[in-house]
Amino acid sequence: MSTTAPADQTTAKVYPPSPEMAASAHIDAAKYEEMYAASIADPEAFWGEHGKRIDWIKPYTIVKNTNFEPGNVSIKWFEDGTMNVSANCIDRHLATRGDQTAIIFEPDNPEEDAQHITYKQLHVAVCKMANILEDLGVRRGDRVVLYLPMVPEAAYAMLACARIGAIHSIVFAGFSPDALSARINGSDAKVVITADYAPRGGRQTPLKSNADAALLHCKDTVKCLVVKRTGGQTTWVEGRDFDYNELALEADEYSKPVEMNAEDPLFILYTSGSTGQPKGVVHCSGGYLVFASMTHEYVFDYKDGDIFWCTADVGWVTGHSYIVYGPLANGATTVMFEGVPTYPDASRFWQVCEKHKVNQFYTAPTALRALMGQGNEFVEKCDLSSLRILGTVGEPINPEAWNWYNDVIGKGKCPIVDTWWQTETGGHLLTPLPGAHALKPGSAMKPFFGVQTVVLDPHTGEEIHDYPCEGVLCLKDSWPSQMRTVWGDHERFEKTYFSDYKGYYFAGDGCKRDADGDYWITGRVDDVINVSGHRMGTAEVESALVAHASVAEAAVVGYPHDIKGQGIYCYVTLMNGVEPSDDLRKELRTWVRTEIGPIASPDVIQWAPGLPKTRSGKIMRRILRKIAENDYGSLGDTSTLADPSVVDDLIANRAG
Ligand code: WTA
Repeated sequence: MSTTAPADQTTAKVYPPSPEMAASAHIDAAKYEEMYAASIADPEAFWGEHGKRIDWIKPYTIVKNTNFEPGNVSIKWFEDGTMNVSANCIDRHLATRGDQTAIIFEPDNPEEDAQHITYKQLHVAVCKMANILEDLGVRRGDRVVLYLPMVPEAAYAMLACARIGAIHSIVFAGFSPDALSARINGSDAKVVITADYAPRGGRQTPLKSNADAALLHCKDTVKCLVVKRTGGQTTWVEGRDFDYNELALEADEYSKPVEMNAEDPLFILYTSGSTGQPKGVVHCSGGYLVFASMTHEYVFDYKDGDIFWCTADVGWVTGHSYIVYGPLANGATTVMFEGVPTYPDASRFWQVCEKHKVNQFYTAPTALRALMGQGNEFVEKCDLSSLRILGTVGEPINPEAWNWYNDVIGKGKCPIVDTWWQTETGGHLLTPLPGAHALKPGSAMKPFFGVQTVVLDPHTGEEIHDYPCEGVLCLKDSWPSQMRTVWGDHERFEKTYFSDYKGYYFAGDGCKRDADGDYWITGRVDDVINVSGHRMGTAEVESALVAHASVAEAAVVGYPHDIKGQGIYCYVTLMNGVEPSDDLRKELRTWVRTEIGPIASPDVIQWAPGLPKTRSGKIMRRILRKIAENDYGSLGDTSTLADPSVVDDLIANRAG
């Protein structure tokens, strides 16, 4: 596909760090080598030392206790230490930087004032929220679902949960009521925190009414705490719904952070896999925070006083680790942006950079591709001289987008850190460090400290020691922010990540490693597609489609999409007697949006009287992918198909 690194790109131009960058950055090339070697030679000693970057109530004596053996998978870091994440992100900064801005909130509408929330104000707001949650009956270990716009209250709620030991589970505000109720029920949450509306790109999503719809399918004991964002009209269920803004007026301004064990869960975050059911990825307190804060500091070369902006939504892991937990643990100033890159126009990102004098800017390739297409005048009218480091995440970055980012945004002076990681990994695993590595456009470069990436032969499962090579990307040993389990289903955790390649964590991505040992991610090797940097299980879209009365069967694959990276291509077999039509196509599209959310909107729907199946009834997705990619020359062996003529029909009627 056009957005992944072509094979010959591994020999393209390299961009070494400038002498100034190498001299001023936290980590230069020699330091990287030395620290990386130390982290692998003696993980206990390395993490024993770096674990101290956060404050512990009771210091740990055991650093690492991890096992990747199938049947016995268990991951524990700093297991006898106690601490509190909220105290680490707020209280410990109060004495030294109480009046420094912790969060800059930039609203969707540029006419609306930005807010600067200091660490002292953050402390009060989080304590109040913690007290409100306790009054609603939330106790240590209970789950709280957040379904919120990108407003400061989202961060308050996360940190308030952490403060009282509750486990938050954020549901991206773009998800549908059905997806929301599944997640409320999946984690048996006590409280849902939402807002009246979510303004985004000039439009308003009715979050409260979505939550109302979701709550119809949940236990009637679930309470709903409602943040006022627009003041727009909502319906109210007495006894179930509570007004956050009113309660905050009265709430006590202090809440004592609860002493938590390092291994107590901090949050659950649902993510798509290759089955129809998203899984609840569980992250714990101590190791997660150590790794999120350390990567935030080193990967973005964060220095005191810098203004850091990660454009993700807190509904994704990137927002968890690099808007809230990593930056705040480091006493940083972090920007929370409610809007979208193209509203009111394509200069919005760059105007926000200018307005808040952003030093580190972290976004997704899909946003860059969309903006690149709008023309450089949107960038050139903004003063981007504060920018020092640029970052990308979520999908492979194609060379055109990389070059544009480098030349037009960074003016050739800002290193680009292409960070590869996952919801499951909690923080960056592969990335260049700005002062240490000679960048290669499209390469996620090197493992971070303590990260043992290996390339396995997908057929034999053996490690490949050659350079260059290609295979599946696995991790040989644990790192502190590794997910601990799938919520309520440890067996699924083992099966998903540890059973394909015994003794390794299997990430689900393919990669190349070049002659210099630098890594190039080639994309998912399972049935997960990456749409605008968001993970979507093809099986999820399929189950949404077949839930429609007119659909007999559906198969969904990804195909190359200029802006989104991958688009969603659906082959749909209709029920006997149902006539295909454009109206039905529209209806199915709306159907999937309501079942899952707008991010799952099918790009292409092709009517398929039959699907290519083996004689044992298995759909041959490889063939469907090729047809969607418009690449019929290499369909491969179709002789095992029960009815090979199906393929000719699909090619003849290819849509899009
Ligand atoms: C993909 C997002 C190439 C990859 C943090 C991974 C990337 C999935 C990169 C995780 C990158 C993420 N280059 N591919 N720099 N970063 N990916 O869980 O396929 O939403 O497995 O986490 O995104 O997506 P997730």
